[in-house]
Amino acid sequence: MNLESKPTKHLEGEVICPGDKSISQRILIIGSLLNYDMEIDGFLDAYDPNSTLSALNKIGASITKNNNTVTLSKRAHSFIDASEILDLGNSGTGIRLMLGLVSGLGISANFKGDSSLSKRPMSRVIDPLREMGALIESNDGKLPINVSKSNIINSYSYKLPVASAQVKSCLLLAAIASKNQINLVEPKITRDHTERMIEHFGGIINYGDDLKKGNIELDYCELKPKGNYRVVGDFSSASFIIVATLISSDSEVLIKNVGLNETRCGLLKVLQMMGAEIQIIQSKEVCNEKVGDILVKSSNLHGIEVPNSIIPNIIDEIPILSIAAIFAKGETIIKNASELKVKESDRLSAISNGLDQLNISHELFDDGLSIHGNNNILNTSQIIDSYGDHRIAMSFLIAGIRTKDGLAVKNCENIKTSFPSFKDIMNSIGMKIDEKN
Ligand code: S3P
Repeated sequence: MNLESKPTKHLEGEVICPGDKSISQRILIIGSLLNYDMEIDGFLDAYDPNSTLSALNKIGASITKNNNTVTLSKRAHSFIDASEILDLGNSGTGIRLMLGLVSGLGISANFKGDSSLSKRPMSRVIDPLREMGALIESNDGKLPINVSKSNIINSYSYKLPVASAQVKSCLLLAAIASKNQINLVEPKITRDHTERMIEHFGGIINYGDDLKKGNIELDYCELKPKGNYRVVGDFSSASFIIVATLISSDSEVLIKNVGLNETRCGLLKVLQMMGAEIQIIQSKEVCNEKVGDILVKSSNLHGIEVPNSIIPNIIDEIPILSIAAIFAKGETIIKNASELKVKESDRLSAISNGLDQLNISHELFDDGLSIHGNNNILNTSQIIDSYGDHRIAMSFLIAGIRTKDGLAVKNCENIKTSFPSFKDIMNSIGMKIDEKN
């Protein structure tokens, strides 16, 4: 499916941010482990959480879904070996967290994914899982993967070589599911939704002496039921609405129900450093996650050097940050982001190729980009390639706002992995996105 975004004068209105993808996947897994009757409200009904849901049902969970409400039912039986292959589609979070869960449960399963997921590195979870005792065969560190009944050791200690919440969460889940203690050290602080969810259900995590965390000690303790669960809105989805509003003239948009976990919303800080007018109106805690409303106004942005320490907290927002950088005066430099090369596409190349097609002066580094922005209206008749990557597709569609005749992006089907209502929500505030043959 190709989409086209027509030039837009101004954006206005109020939108409700759809549910968080990372949290939706985690609550399915942790909720199934807890095994009690639970309703999940605000669930993201999108391809990625749905592939995790169906993988869980294939190992004996009892989950049903009715749009954004999901019901987990208490089962009399425990988890079972998977009789069918677990297909995690496009989802890196789905495959890596499920590998941890299945290893920890001591059941067997075969895993596969789509062509993008099949190219992504899985050794980052396979290696430590094997050290923990998991019996795993893979295709040279990639999918397809087979896990046989495993016995996980107690008190495993691991220093993560990459800053990855997926690796961290995989290992935490292997420890919880096998009722063991674990100690992890992350090189940089990554999203902490798994830790927060464990704590929400009564688990105990010590963060050592380092107040900034990074040192995570999970003591084994039985997690306890705690009523129904509400998923907060996805900051990564909100970021497209935020940047769209910032780069449009004379615009003001209120985004409600946005997840504001500090390890996720680094983009707010970065955009504010670039001169963005963004206000958090109200915030509160829901199920141990911060959530609030965000008011965004059109702003004159300027380029900055993005601080290295914030990169893991804006890792999914770098494609849309690059679009903001196109319209920011001066140079925006993003470094230390080589992880982008192993996402749903090689995002550094995908962004750079799109910028080439738009004639935007930039440099591509091995670990980032430097983008020379200005206030221009873009003019191209070329179709941007999304490389089948949802975040690349949505980012360039947002750039269509500031074009002479519109911007077409090819292969947008995967927007449904994370933000199926993207087109409707963006059009409801004034964008003009439509299918293009
Ligand atoms: C995610 C972690 C990040 C992020 C991904 C979702 C998660 O990946 O890019 O979209 O839910 O834990 P890494 O942990 O590999 O950086």
